Amino acid sequence: IRRPMLFSVLLLLLSALGPGWSGTPDTSARRPSCTRCDLRRSCNCSHSSFTRVPAVTTRVLSLDVSFNNITVVTSDDLAGLKLLTALYLQGNGLASIQPSAFDSLWNLVDLDLSDNQLTAVNQRWFSGLGALQRLNLLNNPYSCLGSPVFQDLLRLRRLDFGGPALEEIRKRDLHGVNQLEELSVHGNNLARYESGAFADIWPLGEVTLKLHGPFLANPALAAAVLADVTYPETHVTLEDLHLIQNRSIQPFTKAATRRIRQLTFRNLSLTDEAIVNFLVAMNGVPLTYMSFEDITLTGEGRWEPAGWTEHESIDELSARNVEILDVFKFLSLMDMTFLLKYPRKGSFINCGVFVMPCRTSQLLLSLQYLDLSDNLLTDLTLTESLCDGGRTLQDLRVLNVSGNALKSLSLVSQLVSKHSKLTHLDISRNGYSSMPARCPWPAALRHLNISRAKLTAATSCLPATLQVLDLSYNHLRSFSLLLPALRELDLSGNKLLHLPPGGLLPQLETLTLQSNALIMFHLSELRSFRRLENFQAANNKFVCSCDFVAFLQSGLAGGGAMRLTDDKDAYVCDSPLDLQGQPVARVHLSLASCHQVVVVSVSCGLVLFSGTLLSVALWRLHALWYLKMTWAWIRAKRGSRRRNRLRGVPGSEALVSFDAFVSYSEQDASWVENLLVPELEEPSDANQESLQHAARPLTLCLHKRDFLPGRWVMDNIMSAMECSRRTIFVLSESFVRSEWCRYELDFSHFWLLDCGAGGDDAILVLLEPLSKDDIPKRFCKLRKLMSSTTYLEWPQDDGRRPKFWRSLRDALQADENQ
Ligand SMILES: *[C@@H]1O[C@H](CO)[C@@H](O)[C@H](O)[C@H]1NC(C)=O
Ligand SMILES: *[C@@H]1O[C@H](CO)[C@@H](O)[C@H](O)[C@H]1NC(C)=O
Ligand SMILES: *[C@@H]1O[C@H](CO)[C@@H](O)[C@H](O)[C@H]1NC(C)=O
Ligand SMILES: *[C@@H]1O[C@H](CO)[C@@H](O)[C@H](O)[C@H]1NC(C)=O
Ligand SMILES: *[C@@H]1O[C@H](CO)[C@@H](O)[C@H](O)[C@H]1NC(C)=O
Ligand SMILES: *[C@@H]1O[C@H](CO)[C@@H](O)[C@H](O)[C@H]1NC(C)=O
Repeated sequence: IRRPMLFSVLLLLLSALGPGWSGTPDTSARRPSCTRCDLRRSCNCSHSSFTRVPAVTTRVLSLDVSFNNITVVTSDDLAGLKLLTALYLQGNGLASIQPSAFDSLWNLVDLDLSDNQLTAVNQRWFSGLGALQRLNLLNNPYSCLGSPVFQDLLRLRRLDFGGPALEEIRKRDLHGVNQLEELSVHGNNLARYESGAFADIWPLGEVTLKLHGPFLANPALAAAVLADVTYPETHVTLEDLHLIQNRSIQPFTKAATRRIRQLTFRNLSLTDEAIVNFLVAMNGVPLTYMSFEDITLTGEGRWEPAGWTEHESIDELSARNVEILDVFKFLSLMDMTFLLKYPRKGSFINCGVFVMPCRTSQLLLSLQYLDLSDNLLTDLTLTESLCDGGRTLQDLRVLNVSGNALKSLSLVSQLVSKHSKLTHLDISRNGYSSMPARCPWPAALRHLNISRAKLTAATSCLPATLQVLDLSYNHLRSFSLLLPALRELDLSGNKLLHLPPGGLLPQLETLTLQSNALIMFHLSELRSFRRLENFQAANNKFVCSCDFVAFLQSGLAGGGAMRLTDDKDAYVCDSPLDLQGQPVARVHLSLASCHQVVVVSVSCGLVLFSGTLLSVALWRLHALWYLKMTWAWIRAKRGSRRRNRLRGVPGSEALVSFDAFVSYSEQDASWVENLLVPELEEPSDANQESLQHAARPLTLCLHKRDFLPGRWVMDNIMSAMECSRRTIFVLSESFVRSEWCRYELDFSHFWLLDCGAGGDDAILVLLEPLSKDDIPKRFCKLRKLMSSTTYLEWPQDDGRRPKFWRSLRDALQADENQ
């Protein structure tokens, strides 16, 4: 069966089956499909208002159907997705999952079921998920887990569960979970915790606990939870706490919490009292890292009551996004020697710091790293904070005052110049608009970040010791400074038109020039950077010339002399217009547009060459001659037609008025005039006697004598030949060689009249022995005639001449005699 036939048979069958057939896969027929898939076989159909899990190809690796309206997952929905490694179902209002829904997902690594409406967690869901490593069950309205739901998840490394509804955690709930990198439990309303429920989980990398309610209302419960997760190597994060009185600090007073080394508070509000009690509770605890994020402080900084406590292991103190409600009463950590003299690292980011008094700075005896970014420092208050450039913070290695309101580059350089150990200085996102010609810097300075300022020029203020320099997002138009030690230079987001000269940056390994005004660059420019390894130049105003495109494409492919390490698709042509907006990597320029000069010169050369060749060939083939012949032929033909019309007129009968037209060359004129003409036109008696009948005088047409003056020679010849019964060609060397012009005319004409006549009308007289080969090849007609027609040879011997004349006469009168 041929294919079309098979197809129609199938169609017939299907239509015969009718509604029964089309109705069978009822559910899947109405199931929408998810088509937003990429090359990595990852389908993202989030935020699409699906009410069912959309159908996808069974080869999909990652499926994101979060934030839809999928309320139920049936056992068919995910059947066959054996390769799926990630499934995101969060934010769907999901209320029910059929027990075997995930059975075929053997390879699932990531499962997110958070922010749904699951009122219970079923162990059966997870029984086939042996590869699962991350499970998120947060913010569902279950009040407890209920059974050892996770016992089949042997590879589980991250578990998030709980939510506002979670009330109870029992020991058996987490049976089988015994080693996690991350555990996150939202238990703000936790009411019951069976001691030891988390105790089997070890090692435990990070634990995040939301225990708002327990800390306020049930410190014993909070303490029991903390006791189970605090190991020296575990980073504990406590969220949503509201620490007010002594009571809410109680969980920290338990001996168990003394194992904590790293503690982070997030979304915390606290009072002076709570801080003092916390410091007391932590007295002598070898806590090394303390971090506060999103903090609301309601106190005034009166923490002296805890001044006797010991916190000498504190190594890093970090605060970010701290809001001090009563800023003007706040004491700015004035007398905190007991706390401040130990940390080596201090970060106070976005804490509304407008000044750190010199006295406080002087307390920071061990400080090596100070981050005061995103605060309210000005030139004036920074001067105070750094004690006017005096001998404070002598161990400082890193200073970050990014995102403040600083304006004077020379001032900051003076202030830090005495910090002899300072290697990193980040003064980015400040208001620097100009750079002085010279600046003092600490001798150790290696990294300098002045990005996102308003600098219009870079001067030799920049120290020669720099290894990493970030000047991105300024207003620089050029950069050419000698920085002999520089390894990394970021100049992106400026207005550079050219690459900086590589000779001045001999150690440079990384150069970033994204989002500038570069039009193009050359290999030679890049080669001048002898150590360049990473080069990034996307988002410039590239002129996509052929050389440049080829060069860039080789670089983007990684095969060229340079390596471009940024996003290939961000290399976009700016001009020419037809390529504008096209990624350079995908531009295809034609050969013609790429090698214009070569193409033009080659084609010109070719034209010239073939022209020459043609002319030579034409010359060799006597094209001019043929042309002239054709021209003559055309004119002759026309003349002939005209004459033929005239001839048709009655009374013009006797047009054949000559017996023969004689075609001869000037050199042979004497023979014709002295011998031929007298012999034929006035036959002598001697000749008469030898003939049987009286020899009639013949009439000859000679162009010299008989041509009408004033007519075109061609016409003359034409009419002469037409009026003549025969044509005598008097051939000699000179006829063929020098007189070929004449000959050609005559001959062309002859050829014209003669078509098909086989040359009977032509009589060839050879004045001297002439072989066919002496005749130029192009006179092929003549050559043909010579081989077909017997020709008469003018005998040199006098005795044979009468015979010649007789033969000639016979030939001329051949048809008369018949
Ligand atoms: C799917 O797309 C949304 C934005 O539409 C994005 O937020 C989410 O991260 C994407 N999911 C994945 C798995 O990349
Ligand atoms: C889900 O459906 C409800 C109404 O049933 C509608 O209000 C809501 O916008 C839908 N959500 C999405 C993400 O489509
Ligand atoms: C911060 O914690 C409070 C309870 O103390 C809670 O009501 C609030 O939602 C939390 N904020 C965030 C952003 O989690
Ligand atoms: C806070 O409570 C602890 C233990 O309950 C107690 O030792 C301490 O004195 C209290 N501190 C204050 C300031 O009340
Ligand atoms: C300084 O702080 C900014 C913003 O917090 C950060 O991006 C930058 O990396 C920090 N610089 C250093 C040297 O740590
Ligand atoms: C320089 O500072 C900017 C802005 O704070 C930051 O994004 C960038 O990463 C810093 N550069 C370096 C090299 O640290």
